[in-house]
Amino acid sequence: MQIDPLTAHFGARVTGVDIASPLDFVTFKQIRQAFDDYSILIFPDQALDDQTQIAFSERFGPCEPTVTANPAKGTVFARQSNLDIKTGEPIPLDDRRMAYQKANYLWHSDSSFKAIPSLCSILSAREVPPEGGATEFASTRAAYASLSDEQKAELDALVVEHDFVRGRALVGYEYTPEERSPYPPVRHKLVRTNAGNGKKSVLVGAHASSIVGWPEEKSRALLDDLLERATIPENCLRHEWRTGDVIVWDNQAAVHRATAYDAAKHRRLMQRTTISSQGAWPEFQA
Ligand SMILES: [Fe+2]
Repeated sequence: MQIDPLTAHFGARVTGVDIASPLDFVTFKQIRQAFDDYSILIFPDQALDDQTQIAFSERFGPCEPTVTANPAKGTVFARQSNLDIKTGEPIPLDDRRMAYQKANYLWHSDSSFKAIPSLCSILSAREVPPEGGATEFASTRAAYASLSDEQKAELDALVVEHDFVRGRALVGYEYTPEERSPYPPVRHKLVRTNAGNGKKSVLVGAHASSIVGWPEEKSRALLDDLLERATIPENCLRHEWRTGDVIVWDNQAAVHRATAYDAAKHRRLMQRTTISSQGAWPEFQA
């Protein structure tokens, strides 16, 4: 197995390993260590299907069930696609399911709106358009590192509220009460510490609605500043997908966003599993 860093701050390409097959302890430990170090791991040319994706995902920890507002509701997959889950045919562009996916164009951390934030997401490219549909990543660890010692000390004590309604509202999608009810706003420590290496990051992105106890304007200014620090070009990594690519990303140390593709012309099917930080190996320490 070879692990090649992709940028100065984060991201690595991992080759010479078949993640669809059962991995021995030593190999997985190396992958897990690389995940802690690089936050984003790209595995090209993998033949994952749903079953082997679940098996690989469960090495990191328990998969979150998909509860609401995704066509794969009731499974552990969050389907990112312009194809109808039953017919396999393209979904009309004005369909509510396509409007829902527009929030993916905003920088975010998957599941940060859940009471237990996720450790990581694993996205497997099953069908990709010939152009467009890249995913971009930004390092929230680099954002934290860019702060002064005084700012770090201030941030260490802060709690941030995350609410999934916020991001979707920004793109004009309104949740039904039924979609809303499983996920009331939640509170998390703003600063996250990686249990493996002690590196700190900030939990921000589209779901981050406010700093608890701060006036709205000051709160928004800090959250926007932290996201700007994370997403300056030097802290970003853009991936153009090929069929068979699998990416594991750390939702505590990075934010990500989707980019557009011609959904009227091309087919795209990505299967995501999201791994809970509770019961993950090794246990994530907030
Ligand atoms: Fe996402």
